[in-house]
Parts: sequence; C-alpha cells; structure tokens
Amino acid sequence: MSTVPIESRLVSAGCGNPTTIASIQEGSTVVDLGSGGGIDAFLASERVGPAGKVYGIDATPEMIDRATRIARENGYRNVEFRLGMIEDIPLEPDVADLVISNCVINLSPDKRLVFEEAFRILKPGGRLAVSDVVLLRPLPPELVSDMRAWSACLSGAMPKEGYIELIRSVGFERVEVVSEAVYSDGQLRPSIADPDSSVDLSDLAASCAVTAFKPAP
Ligand SMILES: C[S@@+](CC[C@H](N)C(=O)[O-])C[C@H]1O[C@@H](n2cnc3c(N)ncnc32)[C@H](O)[C@@H]1O
Repeated sequence: MSTVPIESRLVSAGCGNPTTIASIQEGSTVVDLGSGGGIDAFLASERVGPAGKVYGIDATPEMIDRATRIARENGYRNVEFRLGMIEDIPLEPDVADLVISNCVINLSPDKRLVFEEAFRILKPGGRLAVSDVVLLRPLPPELVSDMRAWSACLSGAMPKEGYIELIRSVGFERVEVVSEAVYSDGQLRPSIADPDSSVDLSDLAASCAVTAFKPAP
C-alpha cells in the first residue's frame, strides 16, 4: 500500500482489496470497474509491470481527471483511465485477463448489465475478482429510498445469494466467495440519513470478495 500515491489512498472508498484475491501475471491486462482515485489500478500496475496494461473505468469526470493526473505525476505509464459507465464499458471484447472492482457494482441500477459487460471484455479463461457490499437479510423499508445509504454503498446492495447467482447467470463459472466480513450496526450507522433511528443494522450487510472465470474455449 505504501507504494501507492498518498492522494490516491486518501480518496479510496473501497470495501476490500481485489488485487490480493486474484493472482496478477506480469504482462497481463487488468480492468478496474469504478476506479475512483485509482488505488487498485495503481496496485495492479506494479504487478502487471511495463509489458502489461491497466485500464480504470469511472463515470465521474473529476475522478478520471484526478486519477490521470496522479498517474502522470507518479510515472505510471501502463495505466489509462477512461471515462465511461460500467454498464457500457468503453473497451473492445476479449481484452482483459482480469476484471477487478472495489465497492462499485452495488451502486449500479443494472447489475446484470455490469456483469455482462465484464464477461464481454474478458478473454476466454479470464477472471473476475470483485469486492462488494451484499445484503444478508432484506433491507429495512426505511432505507430503500435513503440516498445517503445508497451513496454509502448500502441501499443499492443486492442479497448475497442473488448476487452470486447473477454472476453465474451471465456465463461465469467457478463462482466463489473467497472472503466475507459482516458489518456491525455501529459500522453502518453513519451511512444512513438518520443515524438516531431505531432501525437495526446488525448483520444486515457484508463486504464480500468474489471470484469467477469466463469459460476457456
Ligand atoms: C465507492 S467509490 C469506489 C472507488 C474505488 N473503487 C475505490 O476503491 O476507492 C465508487 C466509484 O464508482 C464510480 N461509479 C459509480 N457508479 C458507476 C457506474 N455506473 N459506472 C462507472 N463508474 C461508476 C464512482 O464515480 C466512484 O468513483
């Protein structure tokens, strides 16, 4: 972590470390969906080396501009940040050896499309490795339209089983939950619009690390 530029670390908003759950080969191509300040793209950059390539995709121009500037100022020549939606990834099919994402897919209103797009840009045999927030029980009704809870990556999250099934249903195989950390009430409370409400947030959500493969030919 200490090798990643401090500015990138300060704006990181992930819920795991997807670069540690998948082996990254030198010379490979990695795509980070929702790259934000670039922390995971920069971690992947070191692992793919000069012969490899990392693309960071983000919908927010300010994030793309910041990450691009940090890459330039810190000499990351193998990283490119592209403005775009993860539901319509601005990359050709079959380009990536690995698609990573850190606490982003829960924000998407069309998660099926995101996984279909990840599948499209992966090479056959390529791997998906994501950290994301999933629900362990139904979302309390008062949080359904809580925009603070949505932007804090809680109220847009899917039930864990449905999330796994969705990844499988777009064609991925060997879908595996490799780690899971359940959030306590106290950890989630600052994420909701009314932290004084009596709603019970314990055992509601977890950060999950999931890996899956696009079938090899
Ligand atoms: C919670 S932050 C995580 C950022 C980064 N992955 C990290 O770990 O620091 C979510 C990021 O995803 C981006 N984002 C959210 N929805 C998106 C979408 N549909 N398409 C592309 N980017 C999106 C946001 O602009 C933001 O930078």
